[in-house]
Amino acid sequence: MDQRLEEHYAKLADIYNALWDGRPEYPDWMAERIRSRLKVQQGHRIADIGVGTGLFLRRLLPYATPDTPVLGIDPSAPLLELFPDDRRLHPVQATAEDVVAQRVRLPYASFDAILIKEAVHHFTDLDNTLTGLAHRLAPGGRFLIVALPPKIGYPLFQAALDRFAVEQPDPEKIAVALRNAGLETTIEYEEFPATIDREVWIDLVSDRWMSVLSNFSDAELARGIEEIRERYTAPQLELLDRFVFILGHRPAEAPHA
Ligand SMILES: C[S@@+](CC[C@H](N)C(=O)[O-])C[C@H]1O[C@@H](n2cnc3c(N)ncnc32)[C@H](O)[C@@H]1O
Repeated sequence: MDQRLEEHYAKLADIYNALWDGRPEYPDWMAERIRSRLKVQQGHRIADIGVGTGLFLRRLLPYATPDTPVLGIDPSAPLLELFPDDRRLHPVQATAEDVVAQRVRLPYASFDAILIKEAVHHFTDLDNTLTGLAHRLAPGGRFLIVALPPKIGYPLFQAALDRFAVEQPDPEKIAVALRNAGLETTIEYEEFPATIDREVWIDLVSDRWMSVLSNFSDAELARGIEEIRERYTAPQLELLDRFVFILGHRPAEAPHA
């Protein structure tokens, strides 16, 4: 992970979970979408890669046991430190690229479920990393990538929206990387509409809560915030969270005749 990104997440660690204070129903909504697609069961070997603070991982814990803990993998030490102390959780400080190159020791050689939520845009070699991870999926296993699509409906300034669109990977390209490892794939979109207080939103943008904002200088960000104030004048702003769910499934081996 490059230094700019590392500093971005280290700075954000304290406020990360608080970001959803204004809409507590969102983590449950998202966790249910993840659970229903991954079809996790007790005893499954699960990895959440780019896990962050474990906001969604916590909701997978009922399926984990001390013998088969959920792996929470992330390169950011300050984010991993926020994990609860729980024997069903196994934190690993590493990037997805480290996992593929086997630079880290993991307790499982293969997985029944792999989740990557809002982290693929950080991968340096997207295709090979996703294909490499998909190769670690056991027969019958599922690999879910949740991401924001390149075009987002956030009330941001135009330069940030444009830069986000360039940096965010194309969902079809992600699906191809999974298919190259023998997975069957589907792509679905779901929306979580919410409103946010305009001043709370402007504070979040000032705190650079999205990593794309860490690319802008202080002066550029100040100009961007002025643009937001001019474009969005209502006290409550619409925040349409539209997510793409790319699901890969490795067919179970056919029974021997
Ligand atoms: C936007 S956060 C998402 C966190 C969490 N999955 C969630 O949805 O709340 C992106 C995460 O990706 C992690 N990350 C950055 N580069 C990574 C890489 N190369 N491999 C794995 N994770 C990475 C960051 O440290 C950060 O925790």
